[in-house]
Order: sequence, then structure tokens, then C-alpha cells
Amino acid sequence: MQIDSSPSREIGVFDSGVGGFTVLRELRTLLPSARLRYLADTAYAPYGNRSPDEIRARSIAISEHLIERGAELIVVACNTATAHAIEALRERWPALPFVGTEPGIKPAVAATRNGRIGLLATPSTAASARLRALIERHIGDRQVVVQVVVQGCAGVVDRIEAGDLGSAELQALVDRYCEPLRAAGVDTALLGCTHYPFIEPLWQAALGPEVELLRIETAVARRALSLWTPTEGDIPALDIETSGDPVALQRWIGRVLGWQDTAVQAWQPQSKTASSC
Ligand code: DGL
Repeated sequence: MQIDSSPSREIGVFDSGVGGFTVLRELRTLLPSARLRYLADTAYAPYGNRSPDEIRARSIAISEHLIERGAELIVVACNTATAHAIEALRERWPALPFVGTEPGIKPAVAATRNGRIGLLATPSTAASARLRALIERHIGDRQVVVQVVVQGCAGVVDRIEAGDLGSAELQALVDRYCEPLRAAGVDTALLGCTHYPFIEPLWQAALGPEVELLRIETAVARRALSLWTPTEGDIPALDIETSGDPVALQRWIGRVLGWQDTAVQAWQPQSKTASSC
């Protein structure tokens, strides 16, 4: 792996913390020649408990930094930031492509056999107008009546950030959040937060083997691939930065992703908007 701090053409990726690594993993596979920069806003995680204004301010400050470092494409690898900030980002930088991450309502509507879909997301995504609009847009796609049970899951991201991917306490929390989905008899469930695939077996155990779990990160990476033209001068590299503790993040990456010796740099925003939140 190559770490180089000189500005050059790159793809910027961000999330509140480690969740976006599920997307980054796919990007590395699909775009092996691209220079990638990942920013984990760990000091402000979880975004799911924060106000839309705070999430927007953080997303703007992070994007400013990524653009300054040479981003020509930004992947918002976070459903919560997409729900509250992607419109503001596109308005501010109209010439720059932003790829958002949103629960795959459309594929879920196509996949469900009984018309009942569950959606597990952060409290903030679950309450967002953008998610409501997305559901409205797609529930009529088929002749079956579709019901979407949306469940906000406070506390799950905090545990994943802390490195808990399988404790009995976390399974109990997951079981509790899956209960309304079970009661509604969903046959399809969406993981509407990029952190959640790290504990996919726990969701599956809580929902039962007959429920199909749908993830979104491959589709997000494919969308980025469709917007990125590799050039001869591209130098593959991965830079990782965090607003939290770089040593702790490096340890997490080594343990969970198996990316040993991946350097992590500290980052703090310059912008007044972000530091005031
Ligand atoms: N991983 C993010 C998402 O997809 C954010 C989770 C959080 O920070 O609450 O929503």
C-alpha cells in the first residue's frame, strides 16, 4: 500500500466512522487503479443521533477537505449523511459528482414476495423526509400492496465503532429492533446503514433464515465506477484519515478488515461551520 500526501486526482469517501469501509472495500475491488481517500468522522459518530444541521455542516467541511486534497468524485458512504446533506453538497459543488448511499427500496420492492419489507436504519435516517420520499416513489412499482416497516436502531453503531461485532448484548439489541419486522412478517429486509453489514449474521439470526437481507454497498461502488474514467497517470493508493483517534482506528482496521499496517492520519476541519457544531 502506498501513502503519499501530494495532491493528485482521487476519489474521496466519507462516513461518520467505520461504516463506509463496507463501501470502500467494494471500491478497491472495482477500481484497483484509483487513488482513494477515506475520511472517518469518528469524533462526531454516530451521526444517527445528530441533528440534520450538524450532519450537513460536518459533510460540507469533510467535502471541502476532500476536494482540497484532489477529489474529483465523492462517495458519501453513509445513509444518514446522504439523507440530510447530499442535496446541500450537490448545490454547493454543482460540477462535482457525488454518489450517495440510500437503502435499496427499489430492489426490495422487486424482491418481496409477500409485499412486506423491513428497513433497519439509524434514528436520523429513519426520521428523514428523503427516506419517506424514496419509499413513496417506489412502493407503487408493483401490483402488490407494499408495506415498509422502518425501524430506527439507536446504539448499534456505537457498539460497532467500539469493535463489538458479536456480543450477547449487541445480539439482544438487534433482536429488539427486529421484533417489529418479525411481527409484521417481512420477507425482505434492508440494511439501511453502512455499519450494519459488519454484523449481518446478527441481523439474520434475529430475523430468521427465511428473510432475505439486502445490502447496498456493491451498487454504490458500481455507481462510482460508472462515473470514474481511469487514466494512465493514476497511482493506486489509499489514504485514511479520522477526526478521532488514529491509533484506535488503525487497530480496528487491522482486526476487522485485516488490513495490517494501514496508516491512519489525524484530521480536523478548518471551517468555522463544522467546528461550531
Ligand atoms: N454509517 C452511517 C449510515 O450509513 C452512519 C451511522 C451513524 O453514524 O449513525 O447511516
